[in-house]
Amino acid sequence: MAEPPVNGPLVRVAPDAGALMRMAAEEVARRAEQAAAERGRFTIALAGGATPKRLYALLADPKEPFRARIPWARTHVFFGDERHVHPGHPESNYGMARAALLSKVPIPPENVHRIRAEDTDAAAAATDYEAELRRVLVLAPGAVPRLDLVLLGLGADGHTASLFPGNDALEERSRFVAAPFVDRLRTHRITLTLPVLEAARAVAFVVSGAEKAERVADVLEGAGTGLPAGRVRVRDGDLLWLLDAAAAAQLRTIDERAG
Ligand code: 6PG
Repeated sequence: MAEPPVNGPLVRVAPDAGALMRMAAEEVARRAEQAAAERGRFTIALAGGATPKRLYALLADPKEPFRARIPWARTHVFFGDERHVHPGHPESNYGMARAALLSKVPIPPENVHRIRAEDTDAAAAATDYEAELRRVLVLAPGAVPRLDLVLLGLGADGHTASLFPGNDALEERSRFVAAPFVDRLRTHRITLTLPVLEAARAVAFVVSGAEKAERVADVLEGAGTGLPAGRVRVRDGDLLWLLDAAAAAQLRTIDERAG
């Protein structure tokens, strides 16, 4: 069967960081409603780092419209990547998401699928996580996990999740989860691999701030298409780049500017 078309990125720009988080929250809520209506549940992989904290707080806020739209009892939360630390460590992506979102919404604990990065053997943690993905997503033989939505950030060096430039994990095409040693950080990470990102129904980069503008332009329009963030394609779904004006400042072409 012919490969489905690879969809290029759809770039949307919000006027500022606050509007960007609302744009991203709307995307999460809309896709959660759609997934639950069409398939009875919503599966999402959360991004780590600092940027999405405000998004997670917005999704958790009972005074905002997003929380009530998400079918938490039928939502399964995964993680795009994790630092090689205990969940209580200040660097833990799970710890950040738990504080900002997961401890504040009525999601069943068994629906939160964290990477067990406290395992001193990072490769074992990756193998364990791949088994969890297979178990929860009930994969047909040879199938790749197809998440409804994967949230991603953009690192200053063009990395995304924990796929770093020049790292072998970027070339991994058979395993769904890898445990690369990241030379620059002198530590292991655990990360979803490109095949899982490519199989998603939607991938949304959420990028904010002037300090990312050069790299955004490099990845989307320049020589950075070979960087990890530039290599993310979605086989049969949507690839979104949700930016604020500061992060989009060096782009020549923009698909949609939100009011
Ligand atoms: C992580 C993230 C990583 C992050 C970028 C951007 O574990 O750190 O998965 O890919 O999204 O580094 O991070 P900031 O949002 O903090 O700039």
